Amino acid sequence: MKGLLLLSLLLLAAGQRSSSCPHFCSCHGRQVNCSSRFLTSSLLPTGFPPETTDLHLHNNKLTHLPNGLLDSLTSLRSISLHNNSWVCDCGVLYLRAWLQRQPANLKSHLGVTCKSPAGLRGRLVVYLAEKEILDSCHYWYCDLALASQVCLFVFVAVQAALLVALLVFLRKFERLSKEAKRTTEESFTAGENQRENEYANLKDGSI
Ligand SMILES: *[C@@H]1O[C@H](CO)[C@@H](O)[C@H](O)[C@H]1NC(C)=O
Repeated sequence: MKGLLLLSLLLLAAGQRSSSCPHFCSCHGRQVNCSSRFLTSSLLPTGFPPETTDLHLHNNKLTHLPNGLLDSLTSLRSISLHNNSWVCDCGVLYLRAWLQRQPANLKSHLGVTCKSPAGLRGRLVVYLAEKEILDSCHYWYCDLALASQVCLFVFVAVQAALLVALLVFLRKFERLSKEAKRTTEESFTAGENQRENEYANLKDGSI
């Protein structure tokens, strides 16, 4: 019960924070200024007040925007995103799509250029072709699939080697046990003959 109360208080506080001025930024009315603050993408606030009309994010170290970050800003009249370190790999797809959705008079795309990869440096994010972006993408799940294939192959190879070793061992064991059986049989029959002879001698002697 107490935990629940605390949780709802926390949620309330979080909800209030999203509509108050974000950490690292300064606000004047509905203008939110987060520019020139050495902001990296991980330092970005999780949201901006939905009523924001002007948002300054330029002159920072942003490499990508978290998916959906700007979606709730329906009152936006101007935004500045230039002079950042935009990385034009898969992570830029949200920014590009968002910029493409904006009306041209917002001029939000101006100066939003790729810092890396080298092949796309200086290009405007909004005009990147999807293929150009995807070419530089590294899909971790492809690596994972490849790694698991290799692991599976090694596993099967080890299994096969073990099986072969087991077969060889069994064959050897079989041969050894056959040999052992033969020698015991031989010694047994030899012993039997000897005993029979002794018995016969005994019999002969007693008569
Ligand atoms: C935004 O903040 C930066 C850094 O504090 C400051 O240099 C700049 O003048 C501010 N811009 C506006 C429009 O308030």
